[in-house]
Amino acid sequence: MKIPIFLVLIHAIFGFDTVFADVTTTIKASSNYGNWEGWGTSLAWWAAAFGDRDDLADIVFSLGQVSFNGLSLPGLGMNIVRYNAGATSSNSYNGESIVKSPKIIPSRLIDGYWIDWQSTDPASSSWLWSVDSKQRSMMQKAKSRGANLFELFSNSPMWWMLNNHNPSGSDNGSSDNLQTWNHQQFAVYLANIAQYAKKNWGITFNTVEPFNEPIANWWNGKSGTQEGCHFNVATQQDVLPYLRSELNNRGLSSTVISASDENSYDSAISTWKGLNSTAKATVGQINVHGYQYGNGDRTGLYQQAVGSGKKLWNSEYGESDATGSQLISNVILDFRFLHPTAWVYWQIIDGGGWGLITGDNTALSLSGPTQKYFVLAQLTRHIRPGMRILDSGCDYAVAAYDASAKKLVIVAVNWDSAQYLNFDLSQFGTPGQNGATIQRWSTQIGSGEQYATYKDTVLSGSKFWSHFATNQVQTFEVPGVVI
Ligand SMILES: *[C@@H]1O[C@H](CO)[C@@H](O)[C@H](O)[C@H]1NC(C)=O
Ligand SMILES: *[C@@H]1O[C@H](CO)[C@@H](O)[C@H](O)[C@H]1NC(C)=O
Repeated sequence: MKIPIFLVLIHAIFGFDTVFADVTTTIKASSNYGNWEGWGTSLAWWAAAFGDRDDLADIVFSLGQVSFNGLSLPGLGMNIVRYNAGATSSNSYNGESIVKSPKIIPSRLIDGYWIDWQSTDPASSSWLWSVDSKQRSMMQKAKSRGANLFELFSNSPMWWMLNNHNPSGSDNGSSDNLQTWNHQQFAVYLANIAQYAKKNWGITFNTVEPFNEPIANWWNGKSGTQEGCHFNVATQQDVLPYLRSELNNRGLSSTVISASDENSYDSAISTWKGLNSTAKATVGQINVHGYQYGNGDRTGLYQQAVGSGKKLWNSEYGESDATGSQLISNVILDFRFLHPTAWVYWQIIDGGGWGLITGDNTALSLSGPTQKYFVLAQLTRHIRPGMRILDSGCDYAVAAYDASAKKLVIVAVNWDSAQYLNFDLSQFGTPGQNGATIQRWSTQIGSGEQYATYKDTVLSGSKFWSHFATNQVQTFEVPGVVI
């Protein structure tokens, strides 16, 4: 941003180095909330629908400029892929077959690989490895574009393992649906997929997550719209050791178990506290979903993770606010209080404001990106794997540092009236070179600029500033910074 005339005059007359705040934040150079592992998405529905599309793979997993729908979109550069092990098959066995929810949305049933209980042998006819080809195709496209972290996750065990054979959930949503005799079979299912993927797909899953919002009871019942399954904490505790030993038995002892993907920060804390020490020892990474938005005890969950020596991921986030306002606000809360080392958006393509790209996974229709897409690009394209997450010193920005490139990244939003936001880098050993150009990118929440870029901002001593409209998001890359 050019220095406004009145500031130049004040500078000339009074020789101040300080800018008239509007607002100043001092980036805490010595802070360290861990090395960033990356940004990602769950495949599941959108990839099962559109997994053969190279343009979508480019949009999500590359950093290139991608032609889409008459636009040139900046790729999001995501590097984390969550692959969904399905729960559905259309066969009958011993006179039994799947029971579907009356409200099921067809694109939300994902074909699973273990179609009957005759054999645990993945080479037998009880296993059908040809299904779900589009989701696998998108996983391969992601890998070839640089994705390097893969998680296998389940929304529900295979239908035949369930009390009511309905992969949307138990009869009342509050009770377990996995039959007791299938606790170990479910672990065999996931371990066989992980082993098969390594041998046959060239995909080594870093983590395996057996649960999806297991303690929830309001959406995962027999009349749900998607696959889901309730697991009491005691049942989770029973399944986790089975999963650990089934993975180990297949030479996958370095595959980490992540759990429990609870819906909220608060339920993640209570589930984690409820697991006994044997179960906790099987888990290497605590996954949580961000559906508590502006509420919940993020700090408490971070303390549980640090105290137990576990990694912490926000493994699923989504909402219907297509403007990007909720997204940036909750990412900032996560960076400030939860301190995850990875952050995963739920569905790239969806309707009702939920998608980064608007579309319908059942009707196979696609339209354009939402403004939320560009708000997320402000983060994912700049805060990159390996960067050290810093304390931004304020509640309207996040900061990350790339030690090898000597680059400081700041992403900020202005919720107030139009004003200058000032950034003070005086805590850094070298805050960059006086006069250095700081490239910036800009997106207006709601509508307006979409990831526009400018080279009009300079470092002045150890400070810089930029003018922000209300609800404007800006990303800055400051070169030559040494902590
Ligand atoms: C749900 O069903 C289970 C098993 O039938 C029962 O034990 C439990 O009390 C039910 N819960 C509710 C809230 O109805
Ligand atoms: C934890 O629970 C599991 C499964 O119920 C059990 O096998 C194990 O012995 C328990 N561990 C402890 C330390 O109580």
